[in-house]
Amino acid sequence: MVSSLLFVCLGNICRSPLAEGLAKQYADKYGLDLVIDSCGTGNWHVGEPPCEDSIRVAKMHGLDISQQRSRQITQKDIERFELIIALDEKNLRDLKAMGAKNVVKLGDYGYKGEDVPDPYFFPGYEGFEKVYEMIELCVENLFKSSINPK
Ligand code: 4NP
Repeated sequence: MVSSLLFVCLGNICRSPLAEGLAKQYADKYGLDLVIDSCGTGNWHVGEPPCEDSIRVAKMHGLDISQQRSRQITQKDIERFELIIALDEKNLRDLKAMGAKNVVKLGDYGYKGEDVPDPYFFPGYEGFEKVYEMIELCVENLFKSSINPK
């Protein structure tokens, strides 16, 4: 069984913090002992909490992600995490360019390989609801297919 998961987007303030929070919630629910983390390929927001709209949409669904802090991926992450999950195609390409072999795309788990769109570039709360729904479904399917078949 896979024992460590790393979700990767660009800034680690909008999408991958939601994926980290949802995956931890799922693991807690089923008593799974996993290392779950997220990070960004970029370094613009290192040390910052998730963006306001991601914190808000998570809170609306009963999930607190406000304590997370953005960090940038390192080469060590590529070696250390058993499964790395990219939020979009560019993240996937960047991870492969760093030598990641154990990398998948989140949209392959329920959204026909679609990118999870970057809400940073289309402001407005509604985009975050859509992103939350996509991530929630795909994270659940990822667990069901690859980690915990319950
Ligand atoms: P994320 O969104 O990758 O979902 O965290 C972004 C946040 C910040 C930037 C890009 C994407 N940025 O260019 O600063």
